[in-house]
This record gives sequence, C-alpha cells and structure tokens, in this order.
Amino acid sequence: MSQTIKNCFSRLLPSMLAAALCLLPLAGCGGGPEPRDTVRVGVALYTQDDTFIASVVQNMERTAQETETDAGIKFNLSVVDGRNNQTTQLEQVDRFLARGYDVLCVNIVDRTAAAVVVDKAQEAGVPLIFFNRQPVDEDIRRSEQVYYIGVDAQGNGTLQGRLVLDAWEQDPSAVDRNGDGVLQYAMLEGEPGHQDALLRTEYSVKALTDAGVEVEKLASATANWNRGQASSRVALWLEEFGDQIEVIFSNNDDMALGAIDAFKAAGAGQLPLVVGVDATAPALESIAAGELYGTVLNDADGMAQAMVDLSLALWSGEDPADAVSLEDGHYVWLPYRQVTQENLSDFLET
Ligand code: GAL
Ligand code: CA
Repeated sequence: MSQTIKNCFSRLLPSMLAAALCLLPLAGCGGGPEPRDTVRVGVALYTQDDTFIASVVQNMERTAQETETDAGIKFNLSVVDGRNNQTTQLEQVDRFLARGYDVLCVNIVDRTAAAVVVDKAQEAGVPLIFFNRQPVDEDIRRSEQVYYIGVDAQGNGTLQGRLVLDAWEQDPSAVDRNGDGVLQYAMLEGEPGHQDALLRTEYSVKALTDAGVEVEKLASATANWNRGQASSRVALWLEEFGDQIEVIFSNNDDMALGAIDAFKAAGAGQLPLVVGVDATAPALESIAAGELYGTVLNDADGMAQAMVDLSLALWSGEDPADAVSLEDGHYVWLPYRQVTQENLSDFLET
C-alpha cells in the first residue's frame, strides 16, 4: 500500500468501525424510542420577545450542551413561546405532558393560572419548575414536585434605590439639578400586577426615604418591560417636565434604555440619573458608554444553570437539595448585585 493510501485508510478506520458497529442490533443507532440517557425538558416562555427571558434561554441552551458533554447524557431542550397568552401556554403544557416530557420549566404568563399548571403536571407525575414569574406560595406548595427559581424582587429593588442613594450622598449637586434638596423622579413600571414590578417600584424609592432623602414623584407609568413603550412614554414626560426630572427609576433595563432613547431623540442635553434592573448585554454597553448610570444583576446565567441542574436531578431521581441550594424544599433564590461603571469589568464577558 502506498503511504497516501495507508494514511487515508487509518483516517477512515474509526468511521468504518463505527459504521460496522451500527449494523449490529444495538440501541442508539437510529430509530426507536429515545434511549434512557436522554432527558427531555419542556420550557414554556411567557413570551420570547423579552430581552431578559431570551438571555435566560440562550444560557440554558449553552448550559444544557455543557452538561451533555460533562454528564455523558443527551439533554433535549424544547422551548415554546406563549406569546403572552395563558390559553396558548396551557395548550403547550398539555402538549409537553402528552408527549411524555420528563420535566417542565414554566415562565408563567399569568400567575393566577399557576394552580392549573400544577394540577396538570401532578396528574401526569411530571416535576414542574416555575421561573422568573413567581406564583403565590400556596400554589407552589400544592405539590411536592413543584419548584420556583428566581430573584428576590424586594432585594433588587432596594439595591436599585441604593445606587441612587449613593450617588446622592457622594455628590448631591450632581443629582439635584434644581438644588432644592428634593429628589424629583419618574418611575417606569413593568407589567401591572407582576411581582417584580410591584416590589421594585416600592422598594427602590423606599431605600431613599428610609435614609431620610426627600423625594417627589413627577410621573409614573407602566411600559410593560418594553423599550419602545418606555421611549414613547418618556417623550411625553420630557414635553411636560423637561429637565425637572432628576432620576428615572425603571423596573428593568429595556425600559431604562427606552428612556435614554427618548432623551437622545429629543436632543435633551444632560441625561438624568437612569437606573434599571437585569444587567442585560445592551444595558452593560450603555453603562460603558456613560449613559445608563447603573443596574442590578438579574442573574440569567445562574437561573439557567439552576434550571438545568435541578431538571437533571429530578430526572435522575437525585435529591434536588444536592443539586441546587433549595429553601423550604421548593425555592431557589439567586444572588443579585449592583452594577455601575466602577465594577463593570466583572460583568463583561472576557
Ligand atoms: C423581570 C425582568 C424583566 C422581564 C420580566 C419578565 O424579572 O427584570 O426584564 O424579563 O422579568 O417576567
Ligand atoms: Ca431637586
């Protein structure tokens, strides 16, 4: 045999062997039911059209792939978009259950529908993980196999308020534009009735008033977590209040960026102090550019990791408490942190 042919043969040998093995009646060589080493996780989103949720999904896909390699199993992730419609999402849940998925992860559209989802999953004997949109505790406790993974909204609201408090204490004149000793603010709220919107709205301002800072609310409105809606709303506020607005609290980063869009579009000189929550990639860029003052990490990566780890434990029958840090047998609380220009490098991907 010539050297070239020998080289070629030795390169082909592994695939020829694999092909030969596949002729043997072994499982895993195509066709038939999924082998037992495949975990099938159904992920139902309230909407795909949400920057933070999209980044949770992206992280989940990456983490699932890493887990496949590390654990030597196949992680079959199926993600569906509820398009902000609870009826659509319930049908999607039914479909996952009918197809025998091993674990369901649900980002519920309407938290008052949680009990229905719990009952469906329990009847099918399938463990259920709610994430990001928190059902009431009573619904979580309806069944042993129900979990919630999320971030404490009160805590990250307080941290958002403290971002502003620190700026006020360090250099009041930089924040207090009209020098009246009162902090004039506007509030951009997420969806009405959403736990994160309610608590962030309340606790961000409370961090200032608790510290003795006098505040005055000029305006507040819901913009449903949405950048475009926030931008339209703030354009109106600009007409009404102009540079009287000293601080804009926003329940999330997308709306904070929408506020900045409006200021830029109006050519309105100096930006007020704008703060968000999430630490999405565009928000980090805006902090780097000196536009968004700061944000509070809503840990998309940690959330994804916890969902993958918990799903795997529930599928394999391992004690969930060994896989994730579980509180009260049902809750995984992720840590949160402030982000400003000072510590931005800790959050930018290397
Ligand atoms: C919040 C997040 C928002 C939005 C919302 C959806 O936690 O800050 O950006 O994603 O969840 O439920
Ligand atoms: Ca003032």
